Amino acid sequence: MKTIVILSGTNRPGSNTRKVAGHLDAIYRKLDVSVQLLDLHELPLEAFTPASYGNPPAGLLPFRQAILDAAGVHVVTPEYNGGMPGALKYFIDLLEFPESFEHRPVCFTALAAGLWGALRPVEQLQSIFSYRNAFIFPERVFLPGISKLLDAQGNFTSAEMPERLAKQAAGFVDFVEKLRGTKLR
Ligand SMILES: Cc1cc2nc3c(=O)[nH]c(=O)nc-3n(C[C@H](O)[C@H](O)[C@H](O)COP(=O)(O)O)c2cc1C
Repeated sequence: MKTIVILSGTNRPGSNTRKVAGHLDAIYRKLDVSVQLLDLHELPLEAFTPASYGNPPAGLLPFRQAILDAAGVHVVTPEYNGGMPGALKYFIDLLEFPESFEHRPVCFTALAAGLWGALRPVEQLQSIFSYRNAFIFPERVFLPGISKLLDAQGNFTSAEMPERLAKQAAGFVDFVEKLRGTKLR
C-alpha cells in the first residue's frame, strides 16, 4: 500500500477533470510518490450493464483492485447539475463493500464553470465517504471558472492553482504517511 490513486471523476470525453488529474499525477511524481491515475473515461462499456453490480465484468476488476490497493485516493470531481457526475457515484457503487473505503485516506479537488468551484459535489462526496468510514483529508481545493484557469492545451493559465495543488498533494502524502505509519517515498 504505497500508491496514491488519482480518480478522475467523469467519463466525459476531453474533460477538464482529466486535465487537472493529469497535473496532479505530475505533482505526485515530482514528490517521488508512486501514483496511478484511474480515468472513468476508460471504464469498459460492460461496466454500465445492470449485471455489473452482482457480477463485475473482467474489465472493471483492475479499477476495483486499484482502489483496494491504494494507500490513499485523491478524487477529482467536476460539478454536473449541482452535484457529482452520475458516473462517479455509479463507480463508487460498483466497488467492493466495505473494504474499498473503510479507513482509507481520501482527498478532494473539484472544478466547475461556476463561482462555487464544485463545492456541492465535494460536500456530497464527504458525506458519502464519511458514511463509508474513510479518513477525509481536510484541505480541499476548488477550481471555479475552470475554462479561464486552463488554456487550450490544458495548462494552467497562472501559477496560483498549480501551487495550491502541489501544497494539497504534499499535505495529503504527509496525512497518509501519518495514518498508515509508513513512508510513501
Ligand atoms: C452535464 C454537465 C452539467 C454541468 N452542471 C454544472 C453545474 O451545475 N454547475 C457548474 O458550475 N458547472 C456545471 N457544468 C460545467 C462544468 O462544471 C464544466 O464544464 C467542467 O469543465 C466540467 O468538467 P469536465 O470538463 O471534466 O466534464 C456542467 C457541465 C456538464 C457537462
